[in-house]
Amino acid sequence: MPLVDPATAVSGASQSASTVFPAGFYWGTATAAYQIEGAWNEDGKGESIWDRFAHTPGKIANADTGDVACDHYHRYRDDIALMRALSLNSYRFSLAWTRIQPTGSGAVDQRGIDFYNRLIDALLSSSIRPLMTLYHWDLPQALEDAGGWPNRETALRFSDYAEIAARAFGDRVTDWIVMNEPNSFTSVGYLDGQHAPGRANILAFFKATHVVNLAQGLGFRAVKSILPKARVGTSVFLSPVEPATLSEADKIAAIRAHAIINAWFLDPVMKGVYPDPFPISPEFIMNIRPEDMALIRVPLDFIGVNVYTRTIASAATRAERFRDPKLLVLPVKMQIGGDDGPKTEFGWEFWPQSLYDMVMRVTRDYNRPLIEITESGCSYSDGPGPDGEVHDARRVEYYQKHLEQLLRAIHDGADVRGYHAWSLMDNFEWAHGFSQRFGLVHVDYATQKRTIKDSGKYYAAVAAGNALL
Ligand code: FCB
Repeated sequence: MPLVDPATAVSGASQSASTVFPAGFYWGTATAAYQIEGAWNEDGKGESIWDRFAHTPGKIANADTGDVACDHYHRYRDDIALMRALSLNSYRFSLAWTRIQPTGSGAVDQRGIDFYNRLIDALLSSSIRPLMTLYHWDLPQALEDAGGWPNRETALRFSDYAEIAARAFGDRVTDWIVMNEPNSFTSVGYLDGQHAPGRANILAFFKATHVVNLAQGLGFRAVKSILPKARVGTSVFLSPVEPATLSEADKIAAIRAHAIINAWFLDPVMKGVYPDPFPISPEFIMNIRPEDMALIRVPLDFIGVNVYTRTIASAATRAERFRDPKLLVLPVKMQIGGDDGPKTEFGWEFWPQSLYDMVMRVTRDYNRPLIEITESGCSYSDGPGPDGEVHDARRVEYYQKHLEQLLRAIHDGADVRGYHAWSLMDNFEWAHGFSQRFGLVHVDYATQKRTIKDSGKYYAAVAAGNALL
């Protein structure tokens, strides 16, 4: 039973125009395979870099792993029932590459295909659109052993895998996302080393960024070659950058930070070039071949926008630059989130205008592309109270304020077709393990009991009425 009966929900038409979302708007939630599925070595699944990383002592808070996570692999039907209860009509999820090709190349394991077939069929029979992400960070370990994302071959393996997925699911899946947040997984995985595969090497990072851009172009082409009518996009982490002070140096730092955070994976796909506001262009360490930029540039059907907060940039001093090779190449210090708004428990500043700013920037810079918000959410640890309910008022406010900003962007001309809350339920938050809860649904990890939070009920009412409440 939906929590809100669409028939009795406030009808969009009777609301003032400023609170109503466009007709046919997609209301969904987003998840990722490693963060929810569990069943890490079941039914022939191969090892991914996240399996290896999480099993390495000291990498994840509280030694948590995604071995079981939300046990979604076995409970996906219950989880789809939750989506129905939330009145949702879209679900963004990712495929675990290692369920489909356990070593990232060669033979396909039919059991992996079967699992996603069951999931897709169950979504469709609940009238929920499957929005499928091909890659949400869980590279097959065998490919990492062969050099990982800095190795050009990985782009070719990815393209093969995209083709396999298109052939297996394309009769029912019409909407595809090639990558999730290339900027995050290359920087946190290859530059900072806080995420799998845990490398901290600026050379590896820049090479990886180029191979991932190439993989994105090749993956898009692979899906389109099999499914010319499919809608294929990609999802990027975006954050509006503001200078820390009004100094000229900080303003330049903000332009550079925007280039590396927001444009490094959008300018190549949309325009066929890398942004170049740096004193020395990093391109000389990226092994770019003459034909690459033409392969990378593809006509995306939509841009998936993930926004959480803004970024504050300041210029690195001369002394700082010579102390840190990262700052030598990128002379910018970046702080995720400013200090004016309250902080979520993840430490990120609550700054709803970020969503408006980034949607408008993408609209301006890339000629009004079709946009789907593919992630937006916050971490607060509220759990069930004495009444058994989860009163997460701060998350309710988060969605209210962010959706208000989204409506403002739509009214100012952005072409936004959907919104996906991160996340359906609390899950394995990468290096933070289970300590950070982003869900609309609370998960008791000891029992796997799910409880819809107040924010879930609020979101359900918005989705049912297609209007802000
Ligand atoms: C995004 C990731 C997603 C989740 C949220 C909180 O950067 O794409 O998997 O971790 O952050």
